[in-house]
Amino acid sequence: MERTFLMVKPDGVQRNLIGDIVSRFEQKGFKIVGAKLMTISKSLAQKHYAEHEGKPFFDQLVEFITSGPVFAMVWEGEKVISTARKMMGKTNPSTAEVGTIRGDYGMVTHRNIIHGSDSEESAEREISLFFNKEELIEYSKDV
Ligand code: CMP
Repeated sequence: MERTFLMVKPDGVQRNLIGDIVSRFEQKGFKIVGAKLMTISKSLAQKHYAEHEGKPFFDQLVEFITSGPVFAMVWEGEKVISTARKMMGKTNPSTAEVGTIRGDYGMVTHRNIIHGSDSEESAEREISLFFNKEELIEYSKDV
């Protein structure tokens, strides 16, 4: 089953949006298999955003993501990577559709509330950067 890495960024945590964001993915039908509130070290941030190294906004990105706690999560489900991206909305919240997380709650690209893996390769890489195997729980949703 497909898995993705999602993270409520410091602005989302600060603005009390963890519950709403978790709720959206639960209501869609996805399964949460790992989650933790954590602060990100500079070196983890640099690894996580390695593909953006050298871009003009890289330092700001690292500074922002390490500026306060984040809520890191792993979600599981059919096509969860692409569907979560749709639910998040475009990177720039001012052009993200209303009804998406960024469209509803964000204003600017460098404070865009949530991160989500953009491919299977990124998901695998990001999950293993943030979580140990023991932190990911396999369970059934059937009662
Ligand atoms: P995220 O999904 O976490 O992945 C990379 C992040 O870089 C992105 O969200 C934005 O927060 C940030 N980003 C992308 N483009 C820009 C930009 N032009 N200026 C500032 N930040 C950016």
